[in-house]
Amino acid sequence: MTKKINIAIDGYSSCGKGTLAKFLAKSLNYIFIDSGAMYRAVTFAMIQAGIGFDNAIELEALLPKLKITFKHIPEDDFYHTILNGEDIETEIRSMAVSNMVSPVSKIQLVRDFLVKQQQEIGLNKGVVMDGRDIGTVVFPDAELKIFMTAKAEIRAHRRLNELRENGNLAISYEEVLKNLNDRDYSDSNRVNSPLLKAESAVIIDNSELSKSEQNELALAIANKTISTI
Ligand code: DC
Repeated sequence: MTKKINIAIDGYSSCGKGTLAKFLAKSLNYIFIDSGAMYRAVTFAMIQAGIGFDNAIELEALLPKLKITFKHIPEDDFYHTILNGEDIETEIRSMAVSNMVSPVSKIQLVRDFLVKQQQEIGLNKGVVMDGRDIGTVVFPDAELKIFMTAKAEIRAHRRLNELRENGNLAISYEEVLKNLNDRDYSDSNRVNSPLLKAESAVIIDNSELSKSEQNELALAIANKTISTI
């Protein structure tokens, strides 16, 4: 039987990490985990409970009550984020959550809570996980680490199209670009687990690549890695 590996995909906001991770997971029959969705789910729960960033006591009480899972929905062939049994996939992609998720992801209490769960998911291998600290903190021993990037303007256009497709018509290109740039800055400059390229990561810049070119390139790298373990 072919051995399974863990694949860590890190990179900037909206550069197609999720799309690539999903493609690799499907092609290899692996589990796909969107770790950003887990930070978004905690952010959503904090907004709902009215808990501020600096309220460590209430946050510590809230976290153990949160059960975050993923469910594949055949209708849109997408993994929806489920929080305590409720499908919150649409809510966690809202601008309200997008604007708050970066500060929430800086909180060490939140990171410790989520990293522990992510590491447990990876114990049996066969996981493709995308995020900001997967190759550096969550799976430092991942057999394959990919660091993705693309020009900010290209990413903003892609994200805007996605929001429009989901019915978010009010938002402007400038707002999306600002949100991306702010999050990139905050994710790269935070003290706790900043976005960093792991030393051994392969860089994929998809500014000039089509989705299928990017997917085929990454799948070839993954298959080569699998064949050498
Ligand atoms: O991938 P995303 O844009 O949905 O992630 C949302 C936020 O969560 C992003 O601003 C950075 C943070 N995040 C993180 O700190 N660590 C991860 N492993 C994944 C996401």
